[in-house]
Amino acid sequence: MRAKDPGRVLIFDTTLRDGEQSPGASLNLEEKLVIAQQLARLNVDIIEAGFPFASEGDFAAVQRIAEVVGTDNGPVICGLARAAKGDIEACARAVAPAARQRIHTFIATSDIHLKHKLRKTRREVLEIVPEMVACAASFCDDVEFSCEDAARSDPEFLYEVIEAAVAAGATTINIPDTVGYTTPEEFFQLIAGIDAHVPNMDQAVISVHGHNDLGLVVANFLAALRAGARQLECTINGIGERAGNAALEELVMAMHVRRQLFNPLLGRPADSEQPLTTVNTEEIYRTSRLVSNLTGMLVQPNKAVVGANAFAHESGIHQDGVLKNRTTYEIMDARTIGLKHNRISLGKLSGRNAFRSRLEELGYNLTPEDLGQAFHRFKQLADRKRDITDLDLQTIVSDQAQQVDATYKLKLVQVSCGTNLRPTATVTLEDSQGGLATTAAIGTGPVDAVCRAIDELVKVPNDLVEFSIQAVTEGIDALGVVTIRLRQGDLLCSGYSSDTDVVVASAQAFVAALNRLLVLSKHPSIHPQPTGSSESQPDTAMVASS
Ligand code: KIV
Ligand code: ZN
Repeated sequence: MRAKDPGRVLIFDTTLRDGEQSPGASLNLEEKLVIAQQLARLNVDIIEAGFPFASEGDFAAVQRIAEVVGTDNGPVICGLARAAKGDIEACARAVAPAARQRIHTFIATSDIHLKHKLRKTRREVLEIVPEMVACAASFCDDVEFSCEDAARSDPEFLYEVIEAAVAAGATTINIPDTVGYTTPEEFFQLIAGIDAHVPNMDQAVISVHGHNDLGLVVANFLAALRAGARQLECTINGIGERAGNAALEELVMAMHVRRQLFNPLLGRPADSEQPLTTVNTEEIYRTSRLVSNLTGMLVQPNKAVVGANAFAHESGIHQDGVLKNRTTYEIMDARTIGLKHNRISLGKLSGRNAFRSRLEELGYNLTPEDLGQAFHRFKQLADRKRDITDLDLQTIVSDQAQQVDATYKLKLVQVSCGTNLRPTATVTLEDSQGGLATTAAIGTGPVDAVCRAIDELVKVPNDLVEFSIQAVTEGIDALGVVTIRLRQGDLLCSGYSSDTDVVVASAQAFVAALNRLLVLSKHPSIHPQPTGSSESQPDTAMVASS
């Protein structure tokens, strides 16, 4: 029995759900919307926009993305729901505004999870699955069902669960390697076994999901493709729980660069130029930068495809070879991922209309008020920087998304520092009621002095665990992006900001991280894969039976 084949490889992006579960990567609604709009430009097939039952914030974000991004020609908008009525109903309401909507429901199938987490027998799980899949199917015809921890589940039990899910209306069956344990050969066997032994598998697409604990997830997915999987679940830059998820850019580029290898799997001639996915590869770099900025999850320089060194040739022999012929040491052209498309778009003399229309070309349709603010920032930047590139514009828009609902805003920062001077900072903050407060502090350096002054005003306990500066573009006048990560007990969150003055950017990033810490400590959200005891967190079993 062959699984349903969509004729191409479907790309299911879970940056906003599993990716956002990365410690410290939480995003506000506006930021999620900006990312979802960029994912739509990247042209992924499905966006998993969140876990609506987790919190009011998650629900609102999924609903807004469904409204704005889930247009007739847009991607399918999906929400996650545990195999429980309350979760499924919330998910159905959240994705309802989308033209094409999906409910993704899941329950664990491995004996380890059944015994220690769900405290359910296999029989009980086998009863819950069709009931909950049918419940999801009563709201929408596109239902995905996942067997959590499938890679460590007994294949014979998986076959039974999957058959029941498909019979109840699941149109996609997702096989997660939840703990990143499997290897390519094993994963191939698992997927091939499912394809061969589930009698109604021809009625659903096989999908794979996985984590990168052993660094094998992309290789596992490529093996799964050979075995019949036709949907890959991935995140931008591979962000996600622990070691992360499969990186979208690595999967898409592997299939693009080695298409001769993958074409025959889809029944095409090896030399077919028809893309294996719908992804617009030229949007990859821009999407990577956006997600990195907004989540505060930095991209390591040697990261495949999107790392700063991915197209850099250091050794003389390599440089010489590339100058003679690029293909000596380059397997892909940087332009394919949009790296060399960072074109200069605007300058000091550009007016509001030119600014708006370039933003629209980049896919940002701002409200008049947001446009006004963005234009103001653009003008400030243009006074200090000669050429404004698309990446600069994207940075301005994402900076602004972070400011929405901020409790504190930086009004003034002034620093005196230099040889034989004790670095001293004066800071003024405005609170949400418009009240202003000013203080001064001394630090070991200018940034330390600024952070101490802000701490004195905000009075939220925190430890600064990471501080980094990156340039948005090349050149001495480039915008510097500062990313700051703060910890408060178990909470980890990040803030970022950009400015040509890195001390100003640091102050703004620190205030942004504190704002986020304030929100997170007031509105905790439940995790789709609870690991704690059933007393401390409602698990699937409890919710399912309630
Ligand atoms: O890793 C996992 O198993 C998941 C499921 C909810 C699909 O994220
Ligand atoms: Zn996952």
